[in-house]
Amino acid sequence: MKAAVLHQPGTPLAIEDIEIGEPGPREVLVRTAAAGVCHSDLHFLDGTYPFAMPVVLGHEAAGVVEKVGAGVRTVRPGDHVVTCLSAYCGHCEFCLGGRLSLCLATDTRRGEDEAPRLASPKGQMHQFLNLSAFAEKMLVHEHALVAIRPDMPLDRAALIGCAVMTGFGAVAHTAGVRPGETVAVIGCGGVGLAAINAAALAGAGRIIAIDRLASKLELALGFGATDTIDASATDPVEAVRTLTHGGVHHALEAIGLKTTAEQAFAMLRRGGAATVIGMLPPGVKIELKGTDFLAEKRIQGSMMGSNRFPIDMPRLVDFYLGGRLELDAMISQRLPLEGINDAFAALRKGEVARSVIVFQ
Ligand SMILES: NC(=O)c1ccc[n+]([C@@H]2O[C@H](COP(=O)([O-])OP(=O)(O)OC[C@H]3O[C@@H](n4cnc5c(N)ncnc54)[C@H](O)[C@@H]3O)[C@@H](O)[C@H]2O)c1
Ligand SMILES: [Zn+2]
Ligand SMILES: [Zn+2]
Repeated sequence: MKAAVLHQPGTPLAIEDIEIGEPGPREVLVRTAAAGVCHSDLHFLDGTYPFAMPVVLGHEAAGVVEKVGAGVRTVRPGDHVVTCLSAYCGHCEFCLGGRLSLCLATDTRRGEDEAPRLASPKGQMHQFLNLSAFAEKMLVHEHALVAIRPDMPLDRAALIGCAVMTGFGAVAHTAGVRPGETVAVIGCGGVGLAAINAAALAGAGRIIAIDRLASKLELALGFGATDTIDASATDPVEAVRTLTHGGVHHALEAIGLKTTAEQAFAMLRRGGAATVIGMLPPGVKIELKGTDFLAEKRIQGSMMGSNRFPIDMPRLVDFYLGGRLELDAMISQRLPLEGINDAFAALRKGEVARSVIVFQ
């Protein structure tokens, strides 16, 4: 099958023919229909985050089940599915506590003594985050996907696989935004736009979108933002304080920078909470004003929107089909797999909300 392979950090992906195995126990072979290009892929492509190479990137996908292995209970061939990198074991402390997205158990991967799911005629091929979506097929554990309604368009379903689950979950699960509360979202890429949409669904009183690109702020208004701040021209902390008479109840960072994570905490009102979604580079430390803790300000991380994706994703599909979740405007361009390097170039410039790779 055809796949986009990363051989060395910082080099273009190469379209190559690679091998994919047959589904073993609890495994599912999926024909990939569409895969979104997320900034997290770019962090690994750039080498900011290390990963074993060669590797097939991609982790935001939807497709159709082709074949299932022994003991698979939740899907059948022909089912439409969305994948999730939060493969959960189902029996560890985190899974049993309802925090599936924190599961680190290795049960959902193949063991060292088993044939790997992917291989190259030239040797090894690593699977990325249990998925490797920039390929015509994916071989994944049953706990890394969920079936969805067949009337859901698969290119838009793919977005739910990461950006939407992450942005929505950060608002609904991690931050727990309540009706009437004020929300600021720093960074209006796929993840930030999904957070803005979720804040609107949660009934937030004021939703302030912050970005450095006018085109992104314009887009944010269509996702439910009530106010916008151009961070290239204004200090966003001062601007948020002024707009909200003292700061927001919730600030969400959806970029992955030291400065913007610090800004998220600094723009809170008394008792507010900052939620950092962006992947800060390893080793980076952030600085907070210590006395702010006396105002009960909090800061927390959010992994894949603290999801319970088998429950969340079908509900997000219902939201879209019910006209309450904006996904159409999140797709800036659709490209074939051969356009993957163009998609990364556009993401680097910040000019797209999401590029989606579509397979024939
Ligand atoms: N925690 C998780 O589980 C999780 C899941 C998915 C993505 N992420 C991370 O979330 C982040 C966002 O992902 P994305 O795909 O939406 O990225 P993106 O590149 O599409 O969007 C980032 C946005 O931030 C804006 N921006 C950049 N610097 C800025 C600044 N200094 N001030 C204001 N705006 C600025 C850009 O113009 C762009 O619109 C990335 O770090 C990604 O790795 C984390
Ligand atoms: Zn992602
Ligand atoms: Zn677990």
